[in-house]
Amino acid sequence: MRVLSGIQPTGRFHWGNYFGAIAQYIQLQGDCNKAFYFIANLHALTTVRDSKRMQANMLDAALDLLGLGLDPEQATLFVQSDVPEVSQLTWLLMTVCPMGLLERCHAYKEKKARGLTADAGLFTYPVLMAADILAYDSDLVPVGEDQLQHIEVARDLAGSFNHLFGDVFVLPKGKVLDSSAKVPGLDGEKMSKSYGNTIECFEDLKQQRKKIMRIATDSRPLEDPKDPDTDHLFQLYANFATDSQRQEMADLYRRGGFGYGQVKKALADAAEAFFDPARQRREYFATRPDLVRDILNQGAKRARAKAAEVLARAEAACGVAASPN
Ligand code: ADP
Ligand code: TRP
Repeated sequence: MRVLSGIQPTGRFHWGNYFGAIAQYIQLQGDCNKAFYFIANLHALTTVRDSKRMQANMLDAALDLLGLGLDPEQATLFVQSDVPEVSQLTWLLMTVCPMGLLERCHAYKEKKARGLTADAGLFTYPVLMAADILAYDSDLVPVGEDQLQHIEVARDLAGSFNHLFGDVFVLPKGKVLDSSAKVPGLDGEKMSKSYGNTIECFEDLKQQRKKIMRIATDSRPLEDPKDPDTDHLFQLYANFATDSQRQEMADLYRRGGFGYGQVKKALADAAEAFFDPARQRREYFATRPDLVRDILNQGAKRARAKAAEVLARAEAACGVAASPN
């Protein structure tokens, strides 16, 4: 089984990115020829319009992923734009993609609903994503819930292309981590960079504690029993706690007679301990830029070899391959 996923370098990764997507990457790694993960800089170009920031974000994304446990022996890590075959494949897929399919995709639809004009990059974003997936014969694509629609687009386009030209593409499946489909942010809404309610995985520890203390809670009296299942502070804590810690905290909620400050402190302690090994790993790579460059170059080489093979198959099938004379 071949696994693939991509994540945009739009800033430091936060808890939502980790529990919603990156934790799955790590779980599914094992064989570097079968697990491919990339930094989606071409997708990020639809929002990041500053070359220095793009470069810094790309490095941060690589360091965050390596720190969080992506192991170059067990997975191939690369930068999207280092594989130009994907952009070539995008065009082939574009020719079998109905406009209506893209008009229904949420990123474009939401922008339009807000009265903003979208560029063609944002509109055709799902086609590039389909090419990312199909270029590596990916079977499984671990993502956060909001990306499932795009994986359906990739399946649709693969199906249409195969229907017209023969059996070229593998049909991919999306995979969402059930436990944390949506990680809440400081305000209880979905944690997202665009809502400014995030806690980064490698947040400065003092700042992290401060942010945790700011997490919105209701103002019910101390002695009231509370339902842990509907409380976002509990949901956050549950991500970091062991089963028995989670159970203990849930019992405390149901009994009442505690303050949210107590839960916040437990959350801060648990989060700090949880990411501590990752912090040390990130530091290791941050002080070895040559090693990181090497990992990305090796990754791109392996990814290109696979993408070239799939592109050649697709070009031959639809008849645009140069004739062998
Ligand atoms: P952001 O919303 O902060 O811009 P992205 O859209 O770049 O984050 O998300 C990157 C990956 O992380 C996607 O697979 C997305 O589904 C996942 N993800 C982001 N935020 C959350 C969250 N709060 N809960 C679960 N998964 C999330
Ligand atoms: N669109 C994805 C996101 O915003 C990133 C991405 C690009 C991706 N290409 C991909 C994810 C291919 C999975 C597979 O999170």
